[in-house]
Amino acid sequence: MHFKEYSSLLIVQQDTIVTVTLNRPVALNALSSQVIDELDHVLDIVGAAIAGGAWPCRGMIITGAGEKAFAAGADIREMTGMSPDQAWAYSTRMQALTLKLESLPVPVIAAVNGFALGGGCELAMACDFIYAATRAAFGQPEVSLGLVPGFGGSVRMQQRMGLARARELLYTGQRITADEAHRLGLVNALFDSQEALLTGARRTLLMIAGQSPTAVAAVKSTMRRVEGHSTSRGLEIEAESFREAFRTADMQEGTRAFLAKEKPAFPGC
Ligand code: HXC
Repeated sequence: MHFKEYSSLLIVQQDTIVTVTLNRPVALNALSSQVIDELDHVLDIVGAAIAGGAWPCRGMIITGAGEKAFAAGADIREMTGMSPDQAWAYSTRMQALTLKLESLPVPVIAAVNGFALGGGCELAMACDFIYAATRAAFGQPEVSLGLVPGFGGSVRMQQRMGLARARELLYTGQRITADEAHRLGLVNALFDSQEALLTGARRTLLMIAGQSPTAVAAVKSTMRRVEGHSTSRGLEIEAESFREAFRTADMQEGTRAFLAKEKPAFPGC
């Protein structure tokens, strides 16, 4: 895949894992419109490359530059000049980006190395799951600014930790430690250092990359499609997905290899 030079992002491709680093350390990686546009561009390139059928990317890590922040939120300086309608457009633009992230057919891990506040926390929650360094901190401080979450926090925070806990965090604007976020289920795993965090995220993505890519993509999209449905409708959606798996060469190969006691070589289709 060919990425252009971005002014607010660093992109590293290693094996089939793409690491995207938010790179505005002077503003604690605050999510300006430019960061959002650039992230959107990266997702388009990755999505198009996978749609081409070659699976050049099997997983993505999003992290922040520097020791201090993943992202300290939307760019407050940029927001102060906005009219209500511009604010609405800004919110829907970022929400569209989070939906694009969720519909990417490969897993995305947020590797949170420092502050993940406001829009930063919301971006992390749009990833498949979150790993964090022990010094990281999470929160939705919008109420301290006279604001409300605008990048999906009011929806995804309660999905991640339940309604009552999400209410408490969103109403108080309180910041929580990585340890607390881990305890609440917002964070899957904690790491002692930034290096260990990135190594841990890569290790998990490489483990997933050893599976059938069509099956991983199908699990991701099925889990998303069942959201908000009744158990019975969710089970119908799952059975449809199960049927589709039987049309794939990956399923033929996976089951054949198991019975032949061989390692599968998934064709990815
Ligand atoms: C713009 C920001 C910023 C932000 C930090 N900076 N956060 N600039 N937008 N969200 C800038 C500071 O202005 C400062 O620039 C530099 O980064 C370093 O920040 P300091 O505050 O000096 O660092 P520190 O004292 O260590 O405090 C770190 C911090 C604090 C606790 C993370 O910066 C902070 O509270 N930031 C705001 C967090 C927040 O409220 N986020 C939610 C935003 S609303 P200078 O030029 O002075 O050096 C949001 C809504 C999303 O995200 C929905 C929108 C649709």
